[in-house]
Amino acid sequence: MSSKVSRRQFLSYSLMGVGGFMVSAAVMPMVRFAIDPVLQAKSDGDFIATSQKVDELTDVPVRVDFTIKDRKDAWYKSDVSNTAWVYKEGDTVIALSPVCKHLGCTVNWEGDNHKNEFFCPCHAGRYEKNGKNVAGTPPLGPLDEFQVQEVDGFVYLGKTVPNTLV
Ligand code: FES
Repeated sequence: MSSKVSRRQFLSYSLMGVGGFMVSAAVMPMVRFAIDPVLQAKSDGDFIATSQKVDELTDVPVRVDFTIKDRKDAWYKSDVSNTAWVYKEGDTVIALSPVCKHLGCTVNWEGDNHKNEFFCPCHAGRYEKNGKNVAGTPPLGPLDEFQVQEVDGFVYLGKTVPNTLV
């Protein structure tokens, strides 16, 4: 028993094969473009090096600026500047986010009238040194904390997490 393929059938199969290849070649880049950011969003747990030496920290918060390289936001990559207020409590390094929990302004450590507190100049929000919001001022929650690691004597900062100190 032999199954012969006619010239017409052979041509039809060939065209279907070529057509399928062309469709997949056109569709696959679109699919990859659509799901690429989802596949790339794996670096959230990374820690970023700062220039702050751990043994130079005291119990007084200092401003530490650092840069997140190649932060991917949807399809765009860019360097993002960030800041933390960092101090030591005993041997523990604490890094607080400067982002006010009222409307997102940047809080400062102390100032002429705010000894031993963080102060938000936008609406006079106040926080204790551990980030706890002072009752009766606009912020309704404590400052977030950065995850912290010490690597070769330097402070490395990870993502922000809810405050564990208050
Ligand atoms: S944004 Fe900080 S007190 Fe309003």
